[in-house]
Amino acid sequence: PVRPVLPPDIRARKGGVPLVVLTAYSTPVARLVDAHCDVVLVGDSVGMVIHGLPSTLGVTMEMMILHGRAVVRGAAKAMPVIDMPFGSYEESPEQAFRNASRLMAETGAPSVKLEGGVHMAETIAFLTARGVPVMAHVGLTPQAVNTLGGYKVVGRDAEAAKVMADAKAVEAAGAFSVVLEKVPMGLAGNITKALTIPTIGIGAGKDCDGQVLVVDDMLGLFTDFRPKFVKRYAELGKTADDAIAAYAAEVRSGTFPAEEHSFPDALPPSKAVKS
Ligand code: KIV
Ligand code: NA
Repeated sequence: PVRPVLPPDIRARKGGVPLVVLTAYSTPVARLVDAHCDVVLVGDSVGMVIHGLPSTLGVTMEMMILHGRAVVRGAAKAMPVIDMPFGSYEESPEQAFRNASRLMAETGAPSVKLEGGVHMAETIAFLTARGVPVMAHVGLTPQAVNTLGGYKVVGRDAEAAKVMADAKAVEAAGAFSVVLEKVPMGLAGNITKALTIPTIGIGAGKDCDGQVLVVDDMLGLFTDFRPKFVKRYAELGKTADDAIAAYAAEVRSGTFPAEEHSFPDALPPSKAVKS
């Protein structure tokens, strides 16, 4: 099934109006994102913001498929991208193709995302040549939190050349775009100028070709911690807390449910048709 927006359309947006990307993990949120965004990312951040995992390392193919299917159902226009979970692609290009093709076949998404630069270039080329469009992800790659030693900025000083090399390698391998996470803004701007594919920043400053945030972060629904790069556009966690507290108080005081939420034992004759 061909979708209205495909990876070549996203690639062609290089240097134009910034690409707008948000994550989603469910059909109703995907519908909201779809109305305003170019790309909807089923991030493996789902493990942390929806499933309460301490990192993205415990995310499975099954989780990505279930959430991916829900999001694809809600995304009529925005292009879905599904994250490949930790352990599903690093071993070999063949393993990556097996799992990427399964993600695409079982969700209907037209592309996947995976983390890594120079060392994943061979895999990105293998996938791209076989019908799997790849969004790459360099800089801070959260699946590597244990080797990186935390969620620190990646690419200051001598490390800058390595991030630039990673970005150039994924472009040469055929990635249709690349996420730059927690990269200093000058470096992100230099990478954006050096590449012909769109860069999509998260904590990478304004000089990228697009921006992405985790939807639960920007809505104020996930509040366990708050990276500097998150701007809260709403406080839905606070709104939900107020609503749940009001419900609890009304149930305990007997004010909910009221008559309007209840069903009479006998209907008046005029309303009998509406039962
Ligand atoms: O998993 C995720 O949500 C991501 C974005 C933050 C880029 O990879
Ligand atoms: Na991710």
